[in-house]
Amino acid sequence: MIGVKCEHFGMKSSAKNVIPFIKNPPYTIECSDNIDFMRSLKKESMNLIITSPPYNIGKEYERRTSLDLYIEQQASTIAEAVRLLHPNGSICWQVGNHVDDGEVFPLDAILYGIFKQHGLKLRNRIVWTFGHGLHCQRRFSGRHETILWFTKSDDYVFNLDPVRVPSKYPDKKHFKGPNRGELSGNPLGKNPSDVWDIPNVKANHVEKTDHPCQFPVALVERLVLALTNLGQSVLDPYLGVGSSAIAALKHGRMAFGCDITQQYIDIASDRIARFYAGELRTRPLNKPVYDPNGG
Ligand SMILES: C[S@@+](CC[C@H](N)C(=O)[O-])C[C@H]1O[C@@H](n2cnc3c(N)ncnc32)[C@H](O)[C@@H]1O
Repeated sequence: MIGVKCEHFGMKSSAKNVIPFIKNPPYTIECSDNIDFMRSLKKESMNLIITSPPYNIGKEYERRTSLDLYIEQQASTIAEAVRLLHPNGSICWQVGNHVDDGEVFPLDAILYGIFKQHGLKLRNRIVWTFGHGLHCQRRFSGRHETILWFTKSDDYVFNLDPVRVPSKYPDKKHFKGPNRGELSGNPLGKNPSDVWDIPNVKANHVEKTDHPCQFPVALVERLVLALTNLGQSVLDPYLGVGSSAIAALKHGRMAFGCDITQQYIDIASDRIARFYAGELRTRPLNKPVYDPNGG
């Protein structure tokens, strides 16, 4: 273990954007290898495990290895995650592509079998699409990644109402049948579907830190709201700068997480402290994506 940080903050009354009835959801974050950290947690204690592991593409926070060794390491982390998952809980593994010598290896396809070996069931393969990234010369530029959402059983939490999005035609009515003249859609909005257009965190994003690939908080918020209830536990074993923890705390859930890099844990602690002080800015969940052509 490289260092330990474990703090519970009280929330100041000025904290904004926070569900009022859980006043000070606790959090535990550590600078640690995730296997060590997860082994310290109790079996079946986590309601949602949401994470984005390294893709083995040589980012500054990872050592590039063979794909076989990478898969072996992922298998160990996934096994620990399954041990920690509550029987009614969900695992969301957010991944993109491993790329070697110009060849693309889709990590969701590669890792799917590991989750299945543990008996988990896939509920959605969510496509996260975003506007910014590398401009490729010998293939189409990548503008999406995926989230594999698995559950441990058929009895799982799924709250659709808190994550509904505005309907395209909210005034549309039934034009025949017994409900003729009544609104045909749900007045709370529609299901957000399995394709999510959420800006990735690049230079001028309001949430940008020194981390090269942080989650937009909104991406995690939608999963937290849909897949957990108030007061439940959310774990990110590759926490980075703490975006999952912020999404969890913002909605009155307990947050757990670790990252092997002290610098990122320091930033995560600072972001959480600013969140509790009501000073952390995040991009709102349902803010429309800016379209320069106004389309
Ligand atoms: C894709 S980033 C995750 C970023 C995170 N979602 C955020 O919003 O900041 C992967 C993270 O995994 C961390 N990491 C790599 N190997 C690890 C390990 N064995 N245990 C814990 N963290 C690890 C890296 O330091 C890096 O911050």
